[in-house]
Amino acid sequence: CPSVSVSKRTFCVSSILIVFSLSQVCSCYFSTSNQKRSKFYSDPLDAVRDIPNGATLLVGGFGLCGIPENLIHSLLKTGVKDITAVSNNAGVDNFGLGLLLQTKQIKRMISSYVGENQEFERQYLSGELEVELTPQGTLAERIRAGGAGIPAFFTATGYGTLIQEGGSPIKYNKDGSIAISSEKREVQEFNGRHYIMEKAITGDFALVKAWKADRAGNIVFRKTARNFNQPMCKAAKTTIVEVEEVVDVGTFAAEDIHIPSIYVHRVVQGASYEKRIEKRTVKKSQEAKPKPKKDSDIVRERIIRRAALEFQDGMYANLGIGIPMLASNFIKPDITVHLQSENGILGLGPYPTEDAVDADLINAGKETVTVLPGAAYFSSDESFAMIRGGHVNLTMLGAMQVSKHGDLANWMIPGKMVKGMGGAMDLVASAGTKVVVTMEHSAKGGKHKILEKCGLPLTGKQCVDRIITEKAVFDVDKTRGLTLIEIWEGLSPEDIKACTGTDFEVSPNLRAMQQI
Ligand SMILES: *[C@@H]1O[C@H](CO)[C@@H](O)[C@H](O)[C@H]1NC(C)=O
Repeated sequence: CPSVSVSKRTFCVSSILIVFSLSQVCSCYFSTSNQKRSKFYSDPLDAVRDIPNGATLLVGGFGLCGIPENLIHSLLKTGVKDITAVSNNAGVDNFGLGLLLQTKQIKRMISSYVGENQEFERQYLSGELEVELTPQGTLAERIRAGGAGIPAFFTATGYGTLIQEGGSPIKYNKDGSIAISSEKREVQEFNGRHYIMEKAITGDFALVKAWKADRAGNIVFRKTARNFNQPMCKAAKTTIVEVEEVVDVGTFAAEDIHIPSIYVHRVVQGASYEKRIEKRTVKKSQEAKPKPKKDSDIVRERIIRRAALEFQDGMYANLGIGIPMLASNFIKPDITVHLQSENGILGLGPYPTEDAVDADLINAGKETVTVLPGAAYFSSDESFAMIRGGHVNLTMLGAMQVSKHGDLANWMIPGKMVKGMGGAMDLVASAGTKVVVTMEHSAKGGKHKILEKCGLPLTGKQCVDRIITEKAVFDVDKTRGLTLIEIWEGLSPEDIKACTGTDFEVSPNLRAMQQI
């Protein structure tokens, strides 16, 4: 910032009382400030013009929250091709990275979640796009490690799954056979547990969205728009940050800086921000009439009312989308449960009222939310350190299949459906966390979901501690298998046997299924 340094220089020169040594300090300050790392651009196109074909780009954001909108639009203009994009997901069909998928500028995605982007799924399954699916926490930590000079690390996430075994499709042929498959991971045992080796990720460029930059190039993020942006700043040869505002040095305090300027090479103020919301959810007004209940609603509510009994006072819990999240509506008023959302919230609150909807504040299901007093925001690498480190007491999530020894499958049907594992593999691999599965007892058409052995690719091996369905509650033991502990009134253990794909023990204390 020339204006600052000029005024300081004037001050130094005119101040007769300054001693020689102090003026040396001044001149040193001037020379570094004139050659500071961060260069400011007025046009985002100029900031990305030199990105060459084939570059690896780290692209910040979670869903559509905290994505570098203006930089992505500029890449549409430069027409750069054969990009490898490292990004948790790929936006939606017509916004965010989805735009660069449509124009076929992306060759490979390294992501945890395909989710609701249909063009992403279509290009992958038809062999037009390479996709390296990576568990969300592993992705965040690989990027963090890349920035911190750590070439590889060991994690329990993905042990016993396709991630460890290799052979997971990265690229399909037109006929549906596999053209490129993932590499097998090295396994090591530490203190009696298995861990797999994951390699660091670095990029040629990082495209980051932040809230504000000061004129020295220091960066702050807003609410849950921090996510992957923070670790990505540190892991690329050239970090390009687009911000909503450039402010004077001192506007935010030095101790509040999220990213020091040393990591920031280019800053550009975005011309405008659409900040599109993927799932606009608001608090339902009290007057709204409850809809007449279908059979499927009754089944869901039964599971929800049982799942809510898993909460204990003082607990930290991470809840999956759907039934687990709905169970939080039934937490007893006399207990406190701290909800963690893996995109970077501790202290998640209810859906906002219409006027409090904020595009920078979403949960892991991409829904608009609020936070409670005492909440904290953090980055994705921090969030998964919290999860992997066993600091979260409970994780509750849905499943497509669960085996008698607690193997869980919920992320992919080979050749048909790939949603991606998101953060689920990390959540279930944490040693200190109780894993509760909530799901309907059987699939559509009566197919068993509780099985001797899962047929679908696993999310985690021997990781489930309890299964809650509309018919029964089972405790799961890694070696002994299932024990039926609660049963819906009117059903007998024989009825449960008839709709369960594996044998189980019946607890001597079997009781009626509890409801909150
Ligand atoms: C949650 O986990 C911590 C250890 O990480 C433990 O000290 C605490 O008692 C647990 N709280 C509940 C309510 O389970």
